[in-house]
Amino acid sequence: MQSEADAPKSFHVAIIMDGNGRWGTRQGLSRADGHRAGAEAVRRCVEAAPGLGVTTLTLFAFSVANWRRPDPEVAALMSLFRAYLAADARRLVENGVRLSMLGRRDRLPPDLAAEVETVEAASAGGGRLSLRIAIDYSSREAIVAAARALGGAATLGGLERLIGEAGPVDLLIRTGGEKRLSDFLLWECAFAELWFTDRMWPEFDADDFGAAAADYRARVRTFGALPPKAGVLQPA
Ligand code: IPE
Ligand code: IPE
Ligand code: MG
Repeated sequence: MQSEADAPKSFHVAIIMDGNGRWGTRQGLSRADGHRAGAEAVRRCVEAAPGLGVTTLTLFAFSVANWRRPDPEVAALMSLFRAYLAADARRLVENGVRLSMLGRRDRLPPDLAAEVETVEAASAGGGRLSLRIAIDYSSREAIVAAARALGGAATLGGLERLIGEAGPVDLLIRTGGEKRLSDFLLWECAFAELWFTDRMWPEFDADDFGAAAADYRARVRTFGALPPKAGVLQPA
């Protein structure tokens, strides 16, 4: 395994954590049980990330579109976010993890929004991993907000500063078998490598994370240029 020392300077992984509900139902449990098991997968990934060279980990926990789910499921998810913060805040700080939240805060239960702020402040000094959790998040809304803020002065660089302040996504993982972005980090994923797995999020473990990272490292990223050693046109 690659050590933290020889890892590249920045490696941003984003994960669409999908499949909790189906996993719960297939186990003969509830969808909420699936979400609870999903929180364990979050813990495994946060722990494994630095060892894989990941410096920024952005997790999609709740989309703007997810408000369309039945009230009891939404309430169960909000309770779970609260429970995660209460249970893990201290461990995050001890492990040098800086937590921040993406997305709207004004529609969250006020005590949850306050708890997010408390953990963000407490963990602000963490330099080992930046953990970003997207709750009530829509990438298209983030892009609209940034464009509005810049108005007629909108430029690629200006939008990049407002939207992509955590840097571009290098590797996007989606569990649960679907192959779509569901309004997650559309701007930041402009040149991301994509990795999909049929494994449901509660099943996802450090070995799966390692397999995705290894697959990523074997890819050649060209950003529109040519791959190394292909730069010289051979005479016909
Ligand atoms: C992802 O799992 C978690 C959230 C969207 C909150 P799902 O709840 O979408 O699980 P499936 O896709 O229905 O199995
Ligand atoms: C995407 O999963 C959102 C999160 C993982 C939080 P969904 O299950 O909500 O996405 P769709 O409905 O399959 O596009
Ligand atoms: Mg889903």
